[in-house]
Amino acid sequence: MGNSKSRLRKERRRPSHNEQVTQNEETDRSQDLFMPESIKEIERTQYKYFLYKHIFECRFSPPIEDKLNEGTLVLDIGCGPGTWILDMASHYPCSEFYGFDIHEIYPTQIRPPNAHFKQANALDGLAFEKDTFELVRLASMAISFDELQYLEVIRDSLRILKPGGYIEIIETEDSFINEGPILRKFIESFKLLLARHDMDVKLSQKLDSLVSLSGFVNIQTDRRIIILNESEGGISGKLFMQLVDDFFQCSVTETFAADLGLSIEEYKEHWQVCKDEIVTYKTGLVLKKIWAQKNLI
Ligand SMILES: C[S@@+](CC[C@H](N)C(=O)[O-])C[C@H]1O[C@@H](n2cnc3c(N)ncnc32)[C@H](O)[C@@H]1O
Repeated sequence: MGNSKSRLRKERRRPSHNEQVTQNEETDRSQDLFMPESIKEIERTQYKYFLYKHIFECRFSPPIEDKLNEGTLVLDIGCGPGTWILDMASHYPCSEFYGFDIHEIYPTQIRPPNAHFKQANALDGLAFEKDTFELVRLASMAISFDELQYLEVIRDSLRILKPGGYIEIIETEDSFINEGPILRKFIESFKLLLARHDMDVKLSQKLDSLVSLSGFVNIQTDRRIIILNESEGGISGKLFMQLVDDFFQCSVTETFAADLGLSIEEYKEHWQVCKDEIVTYKTGLVLKKIWAQKNLI
């Protein structure tokens, strides 16, 4: 997959001499945070897929069920532990499912015969022939690419899709609904963390226009608001809150505590107060799915 597109690989801001140690530690922490390499992160990614499936009430949105039953080819970019591929491959045995990820965290041995995984970097270009796939999927990749990189990956997806094939993108929108003052501080800290790693905090809002700019047609979106408590948000709200809770309590703890000027203990107490605030304010999140078609001609 190595070609001229490797220029798209993220060049991080070079830290000053004084910043060096902290910056490097920060980068490592960020990678631990965003790359699901630990068992816990892998479990969280799997849990998230089944929750999203429950919320959207489907495995995918484009109208390609018949083609999947007849037999076609599908690709998942940044497939993580391969949860979607495994679910799809078991459900549509006549089709072939391909997933790749920069980290080898997908199953290498025990998998359905129509599920194929490989290790590759999407920023090196998508090493597939043009007009190959019926569906190309990108889920929760906004924290891995900047705007230009995301645009290139979407454009390259258009190339490898069959005429009439679909792209599907799933992301959580970057702002909360009914955000209280304590949560706002946590979010500011998260945005600072992203900005320090040259990540675009508003990228998820720009994806519709990137898809349109790339030449896709019939662009459709499905936005689901999930209120993060059981009485307002039902089982989805309860389970999504567990994801949010896990996120703020796991690997980000040290970074966020430092950003907020708190000790770890203080941070944990603060987060407990924040969780109560989320319930009181009826705080919610927005999950967004975009799908669009490659022109038939
Ligand atoms: C937040 S996870 C999402 C995983 C999966 N798409 C899902 O929704 O469950 C982001 C994934 O993208 C992978 N990733 C990040 N940068 C990548 C790149 N340049 N090429 C391929 N995979 C990448 C990470 O290793 C990680 O598994």
